[in-house]
Amino acid sequence: NDRMIIAIDGPAGAGKSSVARKVAEQLGYVYIDTGSMYRAVTLMAQRARVTVEQTAKLADLVKSLEIELEPGEQGQSVFVNGEDVTALIRTREVTLQVSHIAANETVREVLGIMQRKLAERKGVVMDGRDIGSHVLPQAELKIFLTASVKERALRRYREIVDSQSITLAQLETEIAERDRLDEQRDISPLICAPDAIVLDSTAMTIDEVIHAIVKLSRTKL
Ligand code: C5P
Repeated sequence: NDRMIIAIDGPAGAGKSSVARKVAEQLGYVYIDTGSMYRAVTLMAQRARVTVEQTAKLADLVKSLEIELEPGEQGQSVFVNGEDVTALIRTREVTLQVSHIAANETVREVLGIMQRKLAERKGVVMDGRDIGSHVLPQAELKIFLTASVKERALRRYREIVDSQSITLAQLETEIAERDRLDEQRDISPLICAPDAIVLDSTAMTIDEVIHAIVKLSRTKL
């Protein structure tokens, strides 16, 4: 069996999802965006008015959720208890709180179990923060995808249609803060696994990054 697990980790806005999706497409693998799972939990916590401080309630909440990921038109669709939340998990409100929710031990435990299950059949490209270092340390290929915070903020800025509502400087501050929270949490923080290959995409195009990863995947077969 030559199907493998590819883990793509790195800070916010490094281009992980676009890259992971295209790599999966080229290899005929399944793409799994684990950030969307943390976002889905955050959305449901906000709706239920459960705060990060209410750890027991948050634990109960995450255990009550059935999260499903399905290939969609623009990558991956996310369903929670049958409801399509694909667009709802991308709001600024969710983005600003997700790293706090993701620091909760039970949330990480429950989602980690789901992620390992999704990778059981191999042939997956999974992107996140702790996939190569914690969730799937057995992954055959681990990529740590980074770019300067300036470049990452700029890419996000260009993506936002209504850029009147936020300045580039503000975006840069928010991205840096999310990185800080993800790197400094106690449980499975954002780190580069010792056996991961670091790709700095600051001066690379998406296509160059995709090509580099597909090429690396061939060396692992
Ligand atoms: O990838 P994305 O930016 O959508 O992830 C949103 C947040 O989810 C991250 O900032 C991080 O706090 C959390 N996350 C995580 N572990 C993962 C994937 C995402 O803690 N494997």
